[in-house]
Amino acid sequence: MKTSPDRGVRLKIISFFLFSISCFMLAGSIQADEPEDAGVQAEYSNGANQCMACHREGRDPAAHEVFLTPMGISDSPNSPFADGRHDCETCHGPSDTHRKKPKDGDRLLPDVTFNGKTPVVKQNEICLACHTGETRTHWAGSIHEEEEVACASCHEVHAPQDPALDKLAQQEKCFACHQRTRAETLRASSHPLRFGEMTCTDCHNPHDGNNDSLLVESNVNDTCYKCHAEKRGPFLWEHAPVTEDCGLCHSPHGSNHASLLKQRPPLLCQQCHSSSGHPSTAYTSELAQDNVQERFLLARSCGNCHSQVHGSNHPSGVIMTR
Ligand code: HEC
Ligand code: HEC
Ligand code: HEC
Ligand code: HEC
Ligand code: HEC
Ligand code: HEC
Ligand code: HEC
Ligand code: HEC
Ligand code: HEC
Ligand code: HEC
Repeated sequence: MKTSPDRGVRLKIISFFLFSISCFMLAGSIQADEPEDAGVQAEYSNGANQCMACHREGRDPAAHEVFLTPMGISDSPNSPFADGRHDCETCHGPSDTHRKKPKDGDRLLPDVTFNGKTPVVKQNEICLACHTGETRTHWAGSIHEEEEVACASCHEVHAPQDPALDKLAQQEKCFACHQRTRAETLRASSHPLRFGEMTCTDCHNPHDGNNDSLLVESNVNDTCYKCHAEKRGPFLWEHAPVTEDCGLCHSPHGSNHASLLKQRPPLLCQQCHSSSGHPSTAYTSELAQDNVQERFLLARSCGNCHSQVHGSNHPSGVIMTR
């Protein structure tokens, strides 16, 4: 078939027109919206069905359970499976090439995987695209961000019940990296963590970079006052270290001394109080026969008399004996 001369002319005019537009755009540096990674063969496949052919229930690895999670069932326009998003590939990145195993060679991986091959910073960017704000407002700069801990180190987004959101299972996630803390919670005196009555996030926000030690409140004492409000006072006679930092005397995770104490009294008290005021040191066996002096050290020792160690409201409680 012959092209009519008329049509040829028209085509030339159109191409000239297009050419001028591109020149104009370049000149005005209004460049066309080229994706940054143009040239990379990164293509999305056509939705979750493509993936489920190989990742449905019974296959290894299976991925169907993601549809039982809040992210999979949410009708929020924010859901990875909402219209206009890329289903599985919202998180795993363009994976079309992954689906097609070359005859000779290995299957290419999806663009983003969460088991160590993709850099943590890139993994986390995927999640943060939808999950900034709320408890993650100060994620940037937090110790977990700086140490490149992945969101997926704590969260299992394919599990119908994310362990991070369960009081007992959460602790196991933390203990994977914080073994010393596990040992502390198993000591004779501890917060009821191992029974699941309390959990790490009662005191810590693992996303936060605003407070010391990732605490939920701005300092140790305010964190403790959430549940031990009676220790806040105000007291007529305060005990300086109590208002300063509960952690001067208590180990929050656990201790082998009663009441989570860091040391057993009298040693605890003697870290700061000299024995010059009244005898507080043990006497030699000779002197110990004089039982009068030993009462300073027996049983709850200093606490036998100074029982209001957190502060006193009694008019004559200046030395916290009442
Ligand atoms: C033709 C079968 C097939 C299809 C279709 C398929 N996969 Fe896979 N996929 C596999 C196999 C097999 C593995 C196991 C790893 C391997 O052998 O490469 C796998 C592994 C994976 C992994 C784990 C990789 C890792 O190392 O952690 C992810 C994530 C994944 N697929 C996502 C997807 C997504 C998203 C889609 C849809 C776009 C998809 N797959 C479609 C066969 C398939
Ligand atoms: C919200 C983000 C997100 C979505 C959506 C998502 N995944 Fe994943 N996927 C992950 C993360 C994170 C992991 C790492 C394991 C985990 O956290 O559960 C993972 C792991 C996998 C694995 C490896 C599992 C294994 O046992 O090694 C496969 C396969 C996989 N995903 C396929 C899919 C398929 C198919 C879909 C869609 C039906 C999908 N994913 C949707 C985030 C996602
Ligand atoms: C495309 C947006 C999107 C992406 C990407 C995304 N999420 Fe979500 N996520 C959601 C939505 C929507 C919900 C459901 C909450 C709702 O509907 O309010 C949710 C819920 C959650 C929850 C709460 C689950 C529960 O049981 O309450 C966790 C934890 C979570 N996402 C972690 C992650 C992690 C980790 C990643 C990265 C691997 C990720 N999300 C990626 C949109 C997203
Ligand atoms: C060190 C472990 C850890 C890391 C790393 C972590 N999270 Fe969490 N996340 C948790 C725990 C624990 C909870 C439950 C909080 C609670 O019970 O108060 C949680 C809760 C959530 C929730 C649901 C409820 C809420 O507080 O909004 C979302 C969404 C979430 N995380 C997203 C993320 C994203 C996105 C990242 C990565 C940028 C991330 N998390 C990194 C441990 C972690
Ligand atoms: C009763 C509150 C409380 C609970 C519950 C709690 N912590 Fe802590 N945690 C603290 C305080 C307070 C500090 C020390 C803060 C300081 O002295 O600056 C701390 C410090 C830490 C540290 C820093 C190292 C150290 O020991 O000083 C890690 C790691 C830690 N906690 C992990 C955990 C984990 C994991 C859990 C859950 C098993 C948990 N915490 C439960 C209050 C708590
Ligand atoms: C993948 C490893 C990993 C997991 C899982 C993890 N952490 Fe951490 N966390 C770290 C690293 C690394 C640091 C940096 C300090 C260190 O080396 O102990 C840290 C530091 C901390 C600190 C001390 C902050 C400070 O300022 O000293 C606290 C508190 C903490 N993590 C709590 C938690 C809690 C609670 C969980 C579970 C919800 C958790 N972590 C899970 C790796 C992890
Ligand atoms: C989320 C609530 C909560 C927070 C926050 C909290 N505690 Fe506790 N605390 C408890 C519970 C529950 C018990 C156990 C009470 C019982 O066994 O009768 C307890 C017990 C104690 C005990 C007595 C333990 C014993 O063996 O008798 C001490 C001491 C203590 N907490 C100190 C602290 C300190 C210090 C902080 C701040 C770092 C703190 N608590 C933060 C809930 C909390
Ligand atoms: C100067 C050391 C010291 C400081 C600081 C201190 N405590 Fe104590 N705390 C003790 C001693 C000693 C006991 C044991 C008292 C007893 O056996 O009667 C105790 C017991 C407790 C108990 C369990 C018994 C009770 O009285 O309910 C709680 C809860 C407690 N402290 C919370 C706190 C909180 C919260 C702070 C910070 C506001 C704090 N402590 C600061 C020394 C201290
Ligand atoms: C971390 C240091 C520290 C520890 C540990 C400590 N104290 Fe104190 N204590 C102080 C300070 C500081 C004062 C205020 C001294 C002042 O005002 O002259 C004080 C005041 C007192 C007073 C009142 C003295 C006065 O002259 O008003 C008594 C009684 C007392 N402490 C008893 C105890 C007992 C009992 C313990 C052990 C359970 C203990 N202290 C543990 C630092 C500590
Ligand atoms: C038998 C009761 C009793 C015991 C046990 C006791 N105290 Fe006292 N303490 C007192 C009395 C009464 C005073 C006030 C009279 C005085 O100054 O001697 C006092 C005063 C103090 C003072 C105020 C300043 C000073 O030195 O006079 C401090 C500090 C103190 N005790 C710390 C301790 C410590 C630490 C222990 C444990 C080693 C302890 N007390 C054990 C009865 C006791």
